[in-house]
Formats: sequence, C-alpha cells, structure tokens
Amino acid sequence: MTSPATQRAHWDRVAEQFPDLFPAVSTQYYRDVEIALLRRTVPSWRGLRVLKLDLWNEAVNTRILHWMQDQGAEVYGLDVSTVTVRRARRNAPPAGPAMHLVQADIRALPFASESFDLVYTMGTIEHVEEYRQSVCDVHRVLRPGSLAIIGVPHYWDPFLRPLIVGALELFGCYPYSPEKAFSWPELRRVVTEAGFAVEQRAGILAIPGIIRMADTFLFRRGIRLDGLVSLSLWPFGVFERRWPWFGRHFGYLAAAVVRKPRA
Ligand SMILES: C[S@@+](CC[C@H](N)C(=O)[O-])C[C@H]1O[C@@H](n2cnc3c(N)ncnc32)[C@H](O)[C@@H]1O
Repeated sequence: MTSPATQRAHWDRVAEQFPDLFPAVSTQYYRDVEIALLRRTVPSWRGLRVLKLDLWNEAVNTRILHWMQDQGAEVYGLDVSTVTVRRARRNAPPAGPAMHLVQADIRALPFASESFDLVYTMGTIEHVEEYRQSVCDVHRVLRPGSLAIIGVPHYWDPFLRPLIVGALELFGCYPYSPEKAFSWPELRRVVTEAGFAVEQRAGILAIPGIIRMADTFLFRRGIRLDGLVSLSLWPFGVFERRWPWFGRHFGYLAAAVVRKPRA
C-alpha cells in the first residue's frame, strides 16, 4: 500500500501544476452532464448529508459539490492532497452554509459509520490499488437504504481513452497516473462484493477523451480555442443530454448507482 504521506506528496505536486480549469469549455460540458446524472438519480437534495470523494472538482474543475449545496444538501468532501483541499476551501462560497472540506485518505474515511445519506465519487477510486477497501468504507459510512454513485474510467470506452492514457503513461506524460479503468462487470462485482445492491448502470462524458485532454492541455498553456472545442463537443452533447443510454454505453466514465440495503 502506498503510504498516505507518499500519496499526499504525489497529488500535491500534481495539484500545484494546474490552473483552475473551471472556465474551460470541456469542464463546463463535464459539469452539465454530471448535473444531468445527479438530477436524474436524486429527486430532492434538501437536507441530505452528502459526502464527495476527492476535491479536485472543487479546487480546479466542475465545482459539483457547490451545485449540491445550492440544491439544499449539507456537503462534506475530502482529498488526500493538502494543496487541493486548500484550493477547494478558497473556492467555497463565502456566504451561506459551511462546506466541510478535510484532508483525508479514501482508504480510511474519517467519518462515523452510517452518517451519510449519499456518497458521490466520480473519478477517484481508480487512483488507489485498494479501491475495494474504499468502496467498503463508502458502504460503512452510508445509512442503510441510502445511495452511492461510484464513477470510474470505462475500460471499453469506444473512443479508446484508456489506450491513450496507457500510451501517455508509457512516456510519463499522464498527470493523473496511476489510473485504472474498469469494465462494467468488474465495477458491478466490486460494488456488489462491498455489500451494495446495484440500482442502475450509468455513465457520463460520451465524448472522445482526446478532446477533453487537448482542451485542458491548451487551457493550461493559456491557449483558448473555445469555438472549436464547443463545435467538436456539440454533437456528443445533443445525444448525451437527450438520451442517458448514450452516456451509459459510450461515456468514458462508467458509474454504478448503488444502494446500501436496509438491515
Ligand atoms: C484525477 S483527480 C480527480 C478527478 C476528478 N474527480 C474528476 O473527475 O475530474 C484525482 C483526485 O483524487 C485525489 N486522491 C488520489 N488518491 C487519493 C486518496 N488516497 N485519498 C483521497 N484522495 C485521493 C487526488 O488528490 C485528486 O484530487
């Protein structure tokens, strides 16, 4: 097991390299399809106690925890990187209810058992070898009868993102390494073995991952090709927003909507 300190140092270094990607066109696309998935899955957020794994989105990406708070949820988030936590805290709305953002490891969640009504994680567990342990801990902190949404890179992404990631990793150019991709049967097995009942297969970001990679690569270097990126994402957005099955099968993030059974 990589120690939490090594893990923290690694992700601190990664976080230090990144500007805030929130304004990038592909980030806004990501945010839109994330919100569509959350709206479809959770009819009412008011009063829910929600935990989100990783604060990358709140530090430099989609700010999805802010959206959940705007819907009336009481929000908690954690990340192993102190840099990311600091940046996420800085981005938290100055007024309104507090966001509870802490530095912690997803392999040992620092929360009481049965203390959350929803756990959301999209693109986090695939970065640790002990992803099974993390899913078991998600199960532990959820109240019986509650939902979790667990998203990971999809191994069978038709736009071959895992292959591109593999090639970049080979040359040491993939910033989010290590990252594992899962087939749907594998993800289903992991969540089922943790004790969850699968309610739904879902997925988001049914776009060629290379567009997202190119957009963020250029954005980091101060090059904005917003019109071109919008145009290239437009046809995928039409399908993905209208038909959830498109994201479910072609999304580069596969997600399991799962429930912790009542005892
Ligand atoms: C690639 S980024 C996340 C991407 C983001 N969820 C998204 O979909 O765009 C991975 C995040 O997971 C965090 N992370 C990695 N290992 C972790 C661990 N063991 N515990 C908590 N957070 C971890 C990193 O610090 C980083 O913020």
